[in-house]
Amino acid sequence: MAEHDAVEVILAKRDGQELSDSQIDWVIRNYTDGVVAEEQMAALNMAILWRGMTRREIARWTAAMIATGERLSFASLSRPTADKHSTGGVGDKITLPLAPLVAACGVAVPQLSGRGLGHTGGTLDKLESIAGWRASLTNEQMLDQLESIGAVVCAAGSGLAPADRKLYALRDVTGTVESIPLIASSIMSKKIAEGTGVLVLDVKVGSGAFMKTLPAARELARTMVDLGTDAGVHTVALLTDMATPLGRTAGNALEVAESVEVLAGGGPADVVELTLALAREMLLGAGVTDVDPADVLASGRAMDAWRAMIAAQDGDPDAPLPVAAEQHVVLAPSSGVLTRLDALAVGLAAWRLGAGRERKEDPVSAGAGVVWHARPGDAVTAGAPLFTLHADDPARFERALASLEGGYDIEEAVEGTPFEPTPLLLDRIS
Ligand code: URA
Repeated sequence: MAEHDAVEVILAKRDGQELSDSQIDWVIRNYTDGVVAEEQMAALNMAILWRGMTRREIARWTAAMIATGERLSFASLSRPTADKHSTGGVGDKITLPLAPLVAACGVAVPQLSGRGLGHTGGTLDKLESIAGWRASLTNEQMLDQLESIGAVVCAAGSGLAPADRKLYALRDVTGTVESIPLIASSIMSKKIAEGTGVLVLDVKVGSGAFMKTLPAARELARTMVDLGTDAGVHTVALLTDMATPLGRTAGNALEVAESVEVLAGGGPADVVELTLALAREMLLGAGVTDVDPADVLASGRAMDAWRAMIAAQDGDPDAPLPVAAEQHVVLAPSSGVLTRLDALAVGLAAWRLGAGRERKEDPVSAGAGVVWHARPGDAVTAGAPLFTLHADDPARFERALASLEGGYDIEEAVEGTPFEPTPLLLDRIS
């Protein structure tokens, strides 16, 4: 491979040139090996953020990151595989009911997940609120569980795209997360290396998401769908609203309880709607067209798959979930219709209550979080509970309350003009 040097690559991108394949391969490999210094990669990331990348550059950057680690294969399984990836949101517990539901429909779901950082929650943190459940599995244990139960949610091992692990930590502290080429290549390098046959992306749009506007979310979705398709993965993206948080809870154990309600045939309508929409896309991509996930959910078979999936990773699906030591109820200040509930405000409140972490190594509180008693479009009455905050330490309530301030609107109901909340499903890109 041709040799380059880091300054040459930085200058090329700084000046708006397209990087060659060998420049990209060289910089990713040598950064992973510690030859390209952190400050040089930080400068290159900033140049990419400003200058962007062509489709060819993004594909090569992604391939170079995949080549730094191992690739898994699910070819030995007797059923097709489909995975879902959400770009991250508030109250986004969809993986919990979705993975067992799709498994119960006959398609295996390998979900290599992460922990939460900042105001968005992490799937592993949620599942770890179940007594005994463990996130770490060997590749062999994962394959066995996929064959026998059909669903695995576990920690992504350090072997998948190690370049991304280093790069993401650097981007996090250098103001270079919000770059479409860098986000798309980061997510897709891990998903392509994971080896799933079908990938359904849930690209979030709104205050609680990375992408605040529909055009930006569409561009991110298009970039990821093209990367997946070019790599032979059947990839589809749904663009979904994240101006409002999902469901009625944000917080680890609170979200597990809400997910179990969905598996039992109840739960908030928006969580059910999104779970079914994503399940239908996963099944369609895997060629399963004769099963309606709504019927499977109603039959209780998704709940059976959930219980088996939790028990296989040493969790006790019947154990009571942890409850935070303290609760604080916020009452509605006026009567009317709730016309806005801001996802970022709710996410920050849950995080400040202890549901999330500030640094990677911080512990999370299983019981902490926020329950909202109304969603946009619901009538509220002055003096009735609007939020219940849960925390282990009551000193956390003050800052959480501050983040909820200005995070919702209650307007007088106008007869004859009912308030129409934003739809949840905004677009589909394939
Ligand atoms: N999630 C990732 O894995 N990478 C990003 O860059 C953003 C979200």
